[in-house]
Amino acid sequence: MADSRQSFVIERNPEPVGVADRAKVLADPGFGRVFTDHMALIRYSEGKGWHDARITARKPLMLDPASAVLHYAQEIFEGLKAYKTADGGMAMFRPDANARRFRQSAQRLAMAELPEELFIESIRQLVAIDKDWFPTVEGGSLYIRPFMFANEVFLGVKPSSEYLYLVIISPVGGYFKSGAPAVSIWVSQNYTRAAPGGTGAAKCGGNYASSLVAQAEASKHGCDQVVFLDAAEHKWVEELGGMNVFFVFEDGSLQTPPLSGTILPGITRDSLMTLARSEGLTVREEPYSFDQWKRDAASGKLTECFACGTAAVVTPIGKVASPEGEFKMGAGGPGQTTMRIKQKLVDIQRGVAPDPHGWVHKLG
Ligand code: PLP
Ligand code: COI
Repeated sequence: MADSRQSFVIERNPEPVGVADRAKVLADPGFGRVFTDHMALIRYSEGKGWHDARITARKPLMLDPASAVLHYAQEIFEGLKAYKTADGGMAMFRPDANARRFRQSAQRLAMAELPEELFIESIRQLVAIDKDWFPTVEGGSLYIRPFMFANEVFLGVKPSSEYLYLVIISPVGGYFKSGAPAVSIWVSQNYTRAAPGGTGAAKCGGNYASSLVAQAEASKHGCDQVVFLDAAEHKWVEELGGMNVFFVFEDGSLQTPPLSGTILPGITRDSLMTLARSEGLTVREEPYSFDQWKRDAASGKLTECFACGTAAVVTPIGKVASPEGEFKMGAGGPGQTTMRIKQKLVDIQRGVAPDPHGWVHKLG
C-alpha cells in the first residue's frame, strides 16, 4: 500500500517531445492545450487502499465502457500553478490548500480521500521530471491539474470501489484569449450553477458540465464569462463559471460573496482577502444582489470589480451584460485597487516579495 513516504516508480517517457518542438510551443502555449511528457498516477481499490504510485509517460488511458465515471460522473479535480521564482528556482503556491480542498471534494462526492501529503508529493515528483517545460512567454507558469475518477466496472448507482488519481501539467500563458485589459461578463437569468445542499463547494467536473450552456449564452452575447445568481432567490451574486468575484467600492472597501456552500472556496479568493486586510483595507464576506450591483455602478459607489482564480489570477471585469441591458464599472478598464492587489499576489507567488504567510513551497 502506498503512503506519502513510499517512493514513486519512475518510468521515463521513451519518446519525449524534441527540444526544438518544445521551445516552439512554450513561446506561446495559450491555456490548456500543451502538455508535458509525463503524468503521475496512483490507484485506489477497496481493501488495498492507495497503491501503484508512479510517474510515467503521458498517454491515453484505457477505460472499460462500464467504468462508473462515464455514467454517474464521480469525478473531482484541482488546479494550481508552479512558477519560476526571482532567484531562478521554482515554487508552487499553497499546494496544501489544494490538497485539503481535494479531500473535501472527495468527501462530497463519496470518493476515497487521497492523503494530503501524497497529493503534494505526486506534484513534486511530476514537476521535477518535467521541469524543462516552463513557458518562456511573459507571465507563463505550469498549470497543474490533479484529478480523480471512479473506475469500478459496474452500472449500479453507488460509490465506486476503485479510483484512479492522476496529475497532468499544462504549460500556460494567460487564461483569456482576448488578452483585453478587462473582461465582460453575462449575468445568467436562465441557469443557476449550484443549489443549497448541492455540489457547488466541491470541485467536481459535473459543476462545469452544467455551466457550459450558460457560458455558451454568454459567448453568444459577446461576453467572456458568465456570472451566476443564487438558485433559491435568483437575486444574489455567487461566482463565475470558473472564478470567484470581488467588488471594490469608492471608500476603498472590498466585498465578496460569502462561502455559503454553493460557491467554490477559492484559494486565490482567500489569499486576496488576507493581502487586502494586511494593507488595512476592509473586506466584507457578505451577499451582494444584482440589483444593488447595478445601482452602485450607476451611482459611482462601486468603482471596480474583478474575477479571481488560479487560471485567471486577478482579472478586471469592465462590463456586465444581462437581458435588461449592460453597464460598466468606472471607465470599464482595470481599476487601481484591483491591479495593486494583483501585483501583491503575483510578487509573492514569484518570490519577488517576502512570503509572510508561508504560501510559497519551493520545488527542486
Ligand atoms: N470558482 C470556480 C467555480 C472555479 O472553478 C475556480 C477555479 O479553480 C475558482 C472559483 C477559484 O478557485 P482558486 O482560486 O482556488 O483557483
Ligand atoms: C482554475 O482556475 O484552476 C480552474 O479550475 C478554473 C478553470 C476554468 C480552468
